[in-house]
Amino acid sequence: MGDLSGIEKQALQALAEVADSAGLEAWRVSHLGRNSALMQVFSSLGTLSKEERPIVGQAANVVKKALESAHAGRMEELNAIALQKSLEGDKLDVTLPGRPYPIGRLHPDTRILRELYRVFAEMGFQVFRSREVESDEYNFQLLNFPVGHPAREMQDTYFIEAENRGDNPIVLRTHTSPGQIRAMRKYSALNPKDPPPIRIILPGMVYRYEQVDNSHETQFDQLEGLAVGPGIRFSDLKGTLTDMARRLFGQQARTRFRASYFPFTEPSAEFDIECFQCGGRGCSVCGGGWLEIGGSGMIHPIVLENGGYDPERFTGFAFGFGVQRIAMLKYGINDIRYFWANDLRFLEQF
Ligand code: DAH
Repeated sequence: MGDLSGIEKQALQALAEVADSAGLEAWRVSHLGRNSALMQVFSSLGTLSKEERPIVGQAANVVKKALESAHAGRMEELNAIALQKSLEGDKLDVTLPGRPYPIGRLHPDTRILRELYRVFAEMGFQVFRSREVESDEYNFQLLNFPVGHPAREMQDTYFIEAENRGDNPIVLRTHTSPGQIRAMRKYSALNPKDPPPIRIILPGMVYRYEQVDNSHETQFDQLEGLAVGPGIRFSDLKGTLTDMARRLFGQQARTRFRASYFPFTEPSAEFDIECFQCGGRGCSVCGGGWLEIGGSGMIHPIVLENGGYDPERFTGFAFGFGVQRIAMLKYGINDIRYFWANDLRFLEQF
């Protein structure tokens, strides 16, 4: 019995000196483990007399309980100390400003496209998406450029090699105009006897085998417009494009139409917008006071017919222009190559 209180006292003294969890575990092994003095008391119970056995057993149990609870208490203390230490050590200041990270922005092209969608939406035009890989038939023939037609020379074309296509090779579209045929065929198929009127814009990439310079790229965006219905007139075309210019460049913007030629329109016109930089006096942006924007005209009867619209009942206008060209005018960009060069010094200005 004297032994037991000695065992307890010694163990508790040692426990007070334990300073970390490794020390605590070592303490547990030596004072409560199988070879500890206390456990030896338990294993020697068998050698005691019947009378002594329960008394010593009970006393040993009391000591065991006391050591176990002292161990648990010390563990809690050590954990609290460790937590306090780490709180003091790794201080976190939640009031510090966060690390800035660069957020993206819209490409100038996307911005101008969205602005054009908005301008035309206000005039009742919906966006119609058409494919970039086309057939010669859609890109040229159905638009009244027959095989061998000299007007094809205006558009240096990427042809894709494919077997057995004869006069109908695959091409990367050179303009968004083949979408006119696709749209008209789609709408006229809805009700071939009485097709619905159309008022759409067709945006997207076009591809040309160009000599690249500051105003020519091998790929660029065009925005095509198409309106088909009974009684549509050239004045509707002029009104629409003039309104577009005003909405883009301000109420003072003026437009000019010059007679031109495209196989798929008759009559055809190129249209210019008065330079917003110099107000038409002539400057380094425009040269002569007017900025060339694109082509337009009244849809040729053959094209209407190819789209499934009876030219006796329907008329329509169409136009097409380069989107980058509008962005260059609006933002004062002097080289079209910047758009696809992915140079952050350019892109970050928008
Ligand atoms: N597709 C022509 C081009 O890329 C532009 C054009 C001219 C489109 C007249 C039209 C149009 O819709 O009516 O050169």
